[in-house]
Amino acid sequence: MMDSRPVGVFDSGIGGLTVLKVLAERFPQESFLYLGDTARLPYGSKSALTIRRYSEQNVHYLLRQGVKAVVIACNSASSQFPEGEFEGVPVYNVIHPGSFKALNLTKNKKIGILGTRATVKSAAYAQELIRLDEGVEVFSQACPLFVPLAEEGWDDDPITNLVTYRYVNPIVKTGIDTLILGCTHYPILKEAIRKVTGNSIELVDSGEAIAELIAQDIERGHFKPVKEDATQNIHIMTTDASEHFNNLARRILEPVRAEQFSVVDI
Ligand code: DGL
Repeated sequence: MMDSRPVGVFDSGIGGLTVLKVLAERFPQESFLYLGDTARLPYGSKSALTIRRYSEQNVHYLLRQGVKAVVIACNSASSQFPEGEFEGVPVYNVIHPGSFKALNLTKNKKIGILGTRATVKSAAYAQELIRLDEGVEVFSQACPLFVPLAEEGWDDDPITNLVTYRYVNPIVKTGIDTLILGCTHYPILKEAIRKVTGNSIELVDSGEAIAELIAQDIERGHFKPVKEDATQNIHIMTTDASEHFNNLARRILEPVRAEQFSVVDI
């Protein structure tokens, strides 16, 4: 069974583009509708109820655009939206695939999580990891300055290196061997994070974890792919107009290209 409709993906801003890029490369015939809720960014410092309300509005908006599945490319939103389905449409959340991947990688069962304040406070990762494996030890660190640094495009900057050291060094000292980048903005700062963790700690990226889950769902018949000769189309929508966002988006997505950029009212 084939389905030619696009896949909806949303985040508060540019972070989810790290997920979109992985998905677009892994599924080169699929089309994507990306929603960045830039008018209301950041989500990670807001209350659980507000994040839930924004997430529901985003899912509803994407469903009205006729998507066949929704990927919540935001950990803060995923931590408040556990449903695997909404109005009959599959919804992919980053918490489960990220946890599953981390458990496959860890050898000493000590797993670290970097996330926004909202994600860390929700304990969604800790609960999921312990549900999957009671023997795991979990260490979390909220990194509220990471999202503005990533949105600013300061991925290669001495200030980012200093902030990263301050957040990441204490969690490295706990003896973890696997670190979940529990915010989709953080892969943008991966090189700075890598400088502090060294190469012996595995970094888990939400985009890759979700792509693996969708690939399995295609095999199981839970996700209907497009026809093999379909042409990919990527449309980026934001809730606020920003040339800075669009330029950064092009840079993050490279070599993937978005055909259309527009501002929408959800
Ligand atoms: N990228 C989002 C996440 O994965 C949230 C960033 C924010 O808006 O605070 O949590």
